[in-house]
Amino acid sequence: MSSTSGGQVSIRDLSKSFSIGGRSLAVLRTLNLDIRSGECLVIVGASGSGKTTLLRILAGLEAADSGGVAINGKPVHGVGAERAVIFQEPRLLPWLTVLGNVAFGLEVRGVPKAEAEKRARFYIALVGLAEFSDAFPRQLSGGMAQRVGIARALTVQPEILLLDEPLGALDAMTKIGMQEELARIWSEENVT
Ligand SMILES: Nc1ncnc2c1ncn2[C@@H]1O[C@H](COP(=O)(O)OP(=O)(O)O)[C@@H](O)[C@H]1O
Ligand SMILES: [Mg+2]
Repeated sequence: MSSTSGGQVSIRDLSKSFSIGGRSLAVLRTLNLDIRSGECLVIVGASGSGKTTLLRILAGLEAADSGGVAINGKPVHGVGAERAVIFQEPRLLPWLTVLGNVAFGLEVRGVPKAEAEKRARFYIALVGLAEFSDAFPRQLSGGMAQRVGIARALTVQPEILLLDEPLGALDAMTKIGMQEELARIWSEENVT
């Protein structure tokens, strides 16, 4: 079921400032970066250095002040089906089951419910939660909820997967297991 081939990202002269209490804070200054198709790039930086801001611009959730991002040669304006985000906190919909949450992204893209649920079940199994398809978010541990977030992002079969410290909120033991799990999923799913 892995049909993605990875996407190519080019960031050109990207700048972004925020105004905080009347002061302008330059968060990203003429950033240039190329990420090849199939590459796994990790950005490391102190808290507040602009990692989330860059990720939100790549996701199309935030606009740059100047410069821009192109994916597979096409300029990014807003969110796109070829990109999916795994947030620091999974942000699941509390009134939907695990299956409902994971299938949701496909359903809003117009995929028929039966097909959406079939694909969702594949990725729920991939993150090891097959037995919890009918559970609600409040019935899951933090690590399990984070895995649902991962399954939800993978189900739309993105070319580019954007992860914002996806393991940051987990305890050390769970973190190690999830790290291995993400590495396995990345190598099996062929995403950038
Ligand atoms: N929406 C916003 N409005 C104002 N300032 C912001 C906003 N988002 C982020 N910032 C500021 O931009 C800087 C970088 O934040 P962020 O990208 O979240 O850093 P990181 O993810 O590396 O910890 C911080 O100083 C933060 O205060
Ligand atoms: Mg951040």
